[in-house]
Amino acid sequence: MDYLSKAKSLVAQMTLEEKATILSGDGWWRTHAVGRIGIPSMSVSDGPHGLRKVEGGGLQTSVPATCFPTASAIASSWDTKLIQEIGIALAEECQANDVHILLGPGINMKRSPLGGRNFEYFSEDPVLAGKMAAAYIQGVQSLGVGTSLKHYAANNQEFERMVTSSNLDERTLREVYLPAFEIAVKEAQPWSVMAAYNPVNHVFATENIWLLQDILRAQWGFSGFVVSDWGAVHDGVAGVKAGLSLEMPGSGNYHQNKVLRAVQDKEIPLSKLDEVIVPLLAVILQAKASHQINATFDAEHHDILARRAAAESIVLLKNAGDLLPLNLDEPKTVAVIGAFAKTPRYQGSGSSQVNPIRISTAYDELRKLAGENVVLSYAAGFTGDGSTTDGLIDAAVQQAEAADVAILFAGLPGNYESEGIDRLSLDLPAGHNRLIESVLSVQPNLAVVLMNGSAVALPWVDRVPAIVEAWLGGQAGGGAMADVLTGRVNPSGKLSETFPVRLEDTPCYPEFPARNREANYGEGIFIGYRHYDARKLEPLFPFGFGLSYTTFSYSNLRVTPAVVTETENISIELTVKNIGKVAGKEVVQLYVREERPTVVRPEKELKAFAKVDLGPDEEKRVMFELHARDFAYYDMLRHGWVVEPGDFEILVGASSRDLRLRQTIEIQRNAPKSLPLTRDSLLKEFKNHPKGKAFYPELVAGFGMGDPDEVDLAVRAFLEDMPIYKICAFSEGRFTEERLLEILTKAH
Ligand code: BGC
Repeated sequence: MDYLSKAKSLVAQMTLEEKATILSGDGWWRTHAVGRIGIPSMSVSDGPHGLRKVEGGGLQTSVPATCFPTASAIASSWDTKLIQEIGIALAEECQANDVHILLGPGINMKRSPLGGRNFEYFSEDPVLAGKMAAAYIQGVQSLGVGTSLKHYAANNQEFERMVTSSNLDERTLREVYLPAFEIAVKEAQPWSVMAAYNPVNHVFATENIWLLQDILRAQWGFSGFVVSDWGAVHDGVAGVKAGLSLEMPGSGNYHQNKVLRAVQDKEIPLSKLDEVIVPLLAVILQAKASHQINATFDAEHHDILARRAAAESIVLLKNAGDLLPLNLDEPKTVAVIGAFAKTPRYQGSGSSQVNPIRISTAYDELRKLAGENVVLSYAAGFTGDGSTTDGLIDAAVQQAEAADVAILFAGLPGNYESEGIDRLSLDLPAGHNRLIESVLSVQPNLAVVLMNGSAVALPWVDRVPAIVEAWLGGQAGGGAMADVLTGRVNPSGKLSETFPVRLEDTPCYPEFPARNREANYGEGIFIGYRHYDARKLEPLFPFGFGLSYTTFSYSNLRVTPAVVTETENISIELTVKNIGKVAGKEVVQLYVREERPTVVRPEKELKAFAKVDLGPDEEKRVMFELHARDFAYYDMLRHGWVVEPGDFEILVGASSRDLRLRQTIEIQRNAPKSLPLTRDSLLKEFKNHPKGKAFYPELVAGFGMGDPDEVDLAVRAFLEDMPIYKICAFSEGRFTEERLLEILTKAH
């Protein structure tokens, strides 16, 4: 029998009390067992970039586990195979620790660079986030461990996150905030989805029938269970009605009693209770069946993977005069500056905080790779909270001055980025900036390596020759930085989020975070690069940007067919060649642009990407396929996706602002079907409607005016934009309600 059928037969044997009990957790990290009929308890743990299995009841102590790079880092690898491998490793650690569900990945969009959990999320772009999430889920679940895709939906700020309503229109939700979830659900079927703390348009995510049932299950085909974020249940009865299967952490009898009463009072039909319990039970059964007893994992192998992943995630932002990689063949003194070189920042604070098995530091790893030719000196330059003193600065300046080259490790201290707190500014601590300026004044050969989980402002960007974004690279980030700085690994990361010049340029400035419990997404679909494109703003570093120690050329774009009809898919091929001297990897990005949309659309949108590994002089053909949905916008009147007939540009390149190849295709689709005519339809909609146009002259006459085509522009606009029910009033009742109804029936 499959798990679903077994779950159904078990539900049939459960008492009402047992049903109410299983809907709420057994403490913080387990589901309730029902021993009488053999339903086991299931264990869940955070996630996402490492296992945080809490031990001994405390909130902070968790078992030692491999700390992989955080989401903003790994998304910058643009490597779905790599994140899938990480998923497998995470599942091995779950199996070894008797954890059945890992609470991740987190895929909320980065609406503002100030979002406190941005380090825990992949991107500002739904396709990049969705594809990374799908691969992560596939990896974890391939070993029989479940995932929990979070936080559904529009959970984009930390400030007062349990009460602030995310208010956004349907198009913005469908085009920007939901597609990552949609891709992950459709491509990877996570075993569970975590409903967010916040209300969406004033309806709590945990009790939102539209989100949990209509969209998640009916439209996307989700078959797992929905769990609340920890403490996100507002009204337990409303949650069950909306399809919430599991409240976490458990609330004892608090919500259970309310649910019991609601069933007894027939406010919730028993069948509804069964409907939400079945998917939960099916997952519990599946998790138990795939659980490996006495499993172990290879911590050494996971550490190697963590180092490779961190290195793939590093983004080389600037490398003037080829300062990097360090030439280790020549004797030299390298000044290593910045306390982060010895006490790295490698993950964010909050529920995702892993207790790492080990931590590598950039200083130690550089020492190992540098060899005997190289003398390394060190100066801390700043303290743990990011502040500095004259003494610390002087010591750093001295070291830098005496060296041939300086590498300065800076970034955001731990208290700058955390779950529960949004950032206050884009700035690095003043102490870090002062240190960088001071070192720069004595040492022009300066490489700044950044450790931070989200975009930062870099006021010295034009004067520092080399800048490396190392993110929060996990426990092996130190080794990865040494690999990239010494050229052992050629950097291939590309920014998964835009770096703005200043906060005032960002999409929801100055409204982020909302402080009045109403987060109004006034910028709509224009977040991330969509915003910088629309406003023609030059970012500090654009989305998708990253340098390499080699150079790639793009050529021979072939898009077929050039004219596409209703159902055809589009094939895209191009050649990428490594024209430099060392092996490297390029992230090829494909964007789509509608040339003359009738609605406001982003300048371009990412639709596909591929990471290509190329030796010197090697070239490869890269292929993509696009489908109708890749050209569609979400129409709020039709409540559906619409592809307009017309010309679309296929843009391929190395970043969102470095598009190397382009070709226009024509889509010959039938124009979207006319909307049904109603009393609210405009006069012009009648004119353009296949059946409605027959009544157009009569309606115009009803208004008591001449043919709109023959009057001046303003009068025409006034008339044509008028809803037709107004004719009754304008004609002082001569045009009757009955006639209006008759026309509507005939034109239907
Ligand atoms: C976080 C979730 C996390 C849960 C359990 C919540 O506060 O928002 O991401 O999975 O706690 O620790």
